[in-house]
Amino acid sequence: MFITPRPLKTELLTGQFVLDEQCTVFCSDNLSNSARYFTDTVRQYTGIELTFVDKLDDAVVYFTAPQLYNMREDEYVIACADGKLGVNALTETSCFYAVQSLLMMFDVYTYQEGDQLSCRHCFVTDRPGYSYRALHLDIARHFYGVETIKKIVELISSLKLNYLHLHLSDDQGFRVEIDKYPLVNKISSWRNGTEIRDGSVHIDDEVYGGYLTKQEVKDLVEYARSLHIEIVPELDLPGHMVSLLAAYPQYSCVGEGIEVRKKWGISKDLLCAGNDGTYTFICDILDELVEIFPGQYFHLGGDEAPKDRWCNCKKCSAKLQQLHLDSFDELQTYMFNYFTDYLTSKGKIVIGWNDGFTASTHPDTVCHHWAPKTDGKTRRMINKGRKAIMSPFFSMYFDYPYAMTPLKKTYHYNPERGVRKHAVSNILGVEGTVWTEHIRNTDKLFFNLLPRLAALSECAWGTNRHYVDFKKRLEGLEKIWDKQGLVYNHNATARMCLFKRLKTTSVFFKKDANTELTKK
Ligand code: ACM
Ligand code: ZN
Repeated sequence: MFITPRPLKTELLTGQFVLDEQCTVFCSDNLSNSARYFTDTVRQYTGIELTFVDKLDDAVVYFTAPQLYNMREDEYVIACADGKLGVNALTETSCFYAVQSLLMMFDVYTYQEGDQLSCRHCFVTDRPGYSYRALHLDIARHFYGVETIKKIVELISSLKLNYLHLHLSDDQGFRVEIDKYPLVNKISSWRNGTEIRDGSVHIDDEVYGGYLTKQEVKDLVEYARSLHIEIVPELDLPGHMVSLLAAYPQYSCVGEGIEVRKKWGISKDLLCAGNDGTYTFICDILDELVEIFPGQYFHLGGDEAPKDRWCNCKKCSAKLQQLHLDSFDELQTYMFNYFTDYLTSKGKIVIGWNDGFTASTHPDTVCHHWAPKTDGKTRRMINKGRKAIMSPFFSMYFDYPYAMTPLKKTYHYNPERGVRKHAVSNILGVEGTVWTEHIRNTDKLFFNLLPRLAALSECAWGTNRHYVDFKKRLEGLEKIWDKQGLVYNHNATARMCLFKRLKTTSVFFKKDANTELTKK
């Protein structure tokens, strides 16, 4: 029997429970979606048809909200003994997590004709350690459409993550339909070449791009919601904006001659902070994004914004003076707070990358920690009361080779290290990130994600980690991925000597970004 992420408490008892068509099912009204998800999934993978009954006393399997003791809203209990299988949960979401555990306990996903669905008698008590457990996916550098995103939603929901953060725009492309500004999808969504590192570093001359239609976004958001995942949109600003500025250069500092970027790295072209039109332009785009992404969080980026253009721009300098600000970093904060206020007025909680934060950043903006060498600064913010999401570069950046960021390092990441006890509750959770500059197809995407997603889920669930036990349970997940035909790294738990790690990492950076994948 295996459950990943590892539950808070598992007590194995003697005896076995067999799930077959004789097992009648009862559920409380408020848990019916999750209970039906269980019976539908069992039917889909095994053909076994479970029948619902109206009375608890007539049921063998039951999903109920307990009345006798104080259960937490995010908790579930599975009690399997004496020929009965019971789930206790107060909400559809916690019941859904119980269901995901049951599907793993009964090996439903790897069922083969003739198998018996059975599990050991047991008591499982479980709840997440963090409320925000996320994966980030960059669909700007390389575009991944509905089918791939849905597959990722399915994977992360089965591992009990609850947010998918979509990086929708960057220098190299803008990936959502926008109605008010038609040049966005005509110009910003396409580039005339791509920097490639596949044995040598070169730029091809192929037109590359695409974007999600609004209807596709709505379908995705609804599909994710049905699997208890909220999609968090990101419009990264004021940097990482070159694709938008290529279509509307009047909102840059230079005013002309910008093309959607083919190379990776950091561009000096930012939104012009001194142009009033910039603020209207971005608010219009935010309006359209807010309409199709109804979740509570909105990510405004804010990372890697060099101020070279602003320093040389008359409008930006005038704005700095008009606002009596001391630095262009403060001007960035002014702009970030402006859009934060706008989104807050629409009911959103705004998230920003930590390197864009200054002392004046709105106190309610959630800090998304990523940048190397800034741990101390982020910890101080958390200790002083700022809410944070943790994606440290050296543990949670899944675009880098396993040689550089081993599975074990991701697994053992402790977001609370160095944070004062009173402030630990300011850590909302953990997020793994996949930037896709060098992830050009789904094979590489899933190779980089699996099995890291499993390590992420156990780290973000955050209750009961045990790496040796995790490695054993990974075999169960690998059987599922095999059955689903997914590419994954079969050697992620193998030890690699330092020399080999350094060599592979060096080849990745200098010559061939696919080095680990091609050596499989
Ligand atoms: C980032 O990696 N620039 C957030
Ligand atoms: Zn400017």
